[in-house]
Amino acid sequence: MASLSTLLFRGPALLRSCPRLSAARNYAAGGNFEYIVTEKKGKNNNVGLIQLNRPKALNALCEGLIKEINQALMTFQEDPSIGAIVLTGSEKAFAAGADIKEMQDKTFQACYSGTLLKDWDRITQLKKPVIAAVNGYALGGGCELAMMCDIIYAGEKAQFGQPEILIGTIPGAGGTQRLTRIVGKSLAMEMVLTGDRISAQEAKQAGLISKIFPVDKLVEEAILCAEKIANNSKIVTEMAKESVNAAYETTLAEGIKMEKKLFYSTFATEDRKEGMTAFVEKRKPNFKDK
Ligand code: HXC
Repeated sequence: MASLSTLLFRGPALLRSCPRLSAARNYAAGGNFEYIVTEKKGKNNNVGLIQLNRPKALNALCEGLIKEINQALMTFQEDPSIGAIVLTGSEKAFAAGADIKEMQDKTFQACYSGTLLKDWDRITQLKKPVIAAVNGYALGGGCELAMMCDIIYAGEKAQFGQPEILIGTIPGAGGTQRLTRIVGKSLAMEMVLTGDRISAQEAKQAGLISKIFPVDKLVEEAILCAEKIANNSKIVTEMAKESVNAAYETTLAEGIKMEKKLFYSTFATEDRKEGMTAFVEKRKPNFKDK
């Protein structure tokens, strides 16, 4: 039987059939979600799953959807039982970009002085690792959102692209920056200037994603990876993530210095001591996240 915490994190479908849980859901999942479904997954319920659920618009990232993703991310970040998060969409679309209908009538003044893009990169401030599980379209802001995650797994039919040029604009949430750092100038330039999409296979070859799975196995595999991560020490995992991210944000010399400091910092944790002791005693470590 599913545990109470699992039930609390299930989405609207479950709640409709179980109305008495709705008050508890407000507490556990951080709000009444319209555009996403959240759930705790994994044998130890230590993986947070966020599924974008705006099928009629191919998960186009409207303001409300971005807000809900951030709310769910923060809830999982603050939940000590969660060690990693999986962000996914549907089999047809991870996300087809920012909501074009919402942007259609915006003026420069409203964009510049207003709140457009204000909350888009909150995900990059998360300490816990996030895996994007991409099936179908990851276009424009959808591709940018995936690139803000720490690991990208893709289904065999996934397509990645930055088609903003075709609607008279350019990527605005890291598409010209993260994509270029990841796949190099020539491919990034080609994608941004033509709007052409690349397949999962091309994305893997270019280093944009780490693994490809059959469409119906993708989320399961992403959860397995997240479980592996969540079973390690959470505090040391956060240090490891911070250190890898430094490779993107700093010079090599600064990054190496930061890595050394974080490596030394692991010696301030009980989990480092437990991990090494368990190795010497030929047993599994029992991490306490301290
Ligand atoms: C709003 C969208 C949308 C989007 C799809 N839809 N993408 N609505 N914003 N980005 C809606 C369609 O209007 C349609 O609703 C429904 O989803 C199904 O889409 P179709 O086009 O009918 O589906 P299909 O023929 O299968 O084509 C799929 C597609 C195409 C290739 C993904 O929808 C498409 O090209 N979408 C736009 C992709 C894009 O340009 N993304 C970049 C956006 S700009 P209705 O109700 O009309 O039937 C961006 C900037 C980010 O992301 C910068 C940071 C914020």
